[in-house]
Amino acid sequence: MRLVLVGPPGAGKGTQAEFIAAHIAVPKISTGDIFRANVSQGTPLGVEAKRYMDAGQLVPDEVTINMVRDRLAEADATDGFLLDGFPRTVPQAVALDKLLADMGGMLDLVLELVVDDDEVIRRLSGRRTCRGCGKIWHVEFDATSREGICDRCGAELFQRDDDKAETIANRLVEYADKTAPLVDYYGAQGKLVGIDATGPVEDVTVRAIDGLRSYGG
Ligand code: AP5
Repeated sequence: MRLVLVGPPGAGKGTQAEFIAAHIAVPKISTGDIFRANVSQGTPLGVEAKRYMDAGQLVPDEVTINMVRDRLAEADATDGFLLDGFPRTVPQAVALDKLLADMGGMLDLVLELVVDDDEVIRRLSGRRTCRGCGKIWHVEFDATSREGICDRCGAELFQRDDDKAETIANRLVEYADKTAPLVDYYGAQGKLVGIDATGPVEDVTVRAIDGLRSYGG
């Protein structure tokens, strides 16, 4: 299956992507994770992306599309993938459709995680990420047994630079301006399935998997 996960910052895309990708046995491809890996390695792509990420803005389409084109050309993505955080603008969605058509395929489904802004702010301000294995935690909703230490691998947790209050506000504006139009774009293609992303993580996963099943996934 070729899937896209769309939703506002903090909707739980990264959290759900891990479970959904494992369920359908495809690689999870997160543009945010790829940018962050480049930032921590200090690559030219990372240096460019960091300027936008720290301001809560989207990285320019051309840079992002080229990066995804390279990633989808890797062997593990041949038979399917779950894209988390891409596309994020209508031009990115058009480029993805064209890229897949050139490869002789098309997107199967787009899952939209639906939550309101207050919940997003609660989720992002308490998010912590593991430096070792990348697992996402939350100080209140999914806390580790020892503060600041990952239960899965024992490494230190950190707070993302773009999870500061003013940056979160900018990210929400960017989402409303540039990403929300994808709901109409994919709705018109008959590929959009809205998922209520409130409530416990496990409940959201069940709704997402049900959404896939209803479309034959
Ligand atoms: P990216 O990393 O994609 O950030 P995002 O879309 O803003 O999404 P987040 O990762 O912040 O949140 P999420 O929805 O994955 O939520 P999570 O599962 O962590 O992108 C970062 C930046 O990179 C962008 O701002 C941009 O600059 C750049 N970028 C990336 N892609 C781009 C593109 N295509 N084009 C241009 N620029 C791009 O959950 C959040 C928290 O909530 C966690 O603590 C989690 O434990 C908790 N939680 C999750 N589910 C629940 C639940 N059901 N109940 C309670 N808590 C929950």
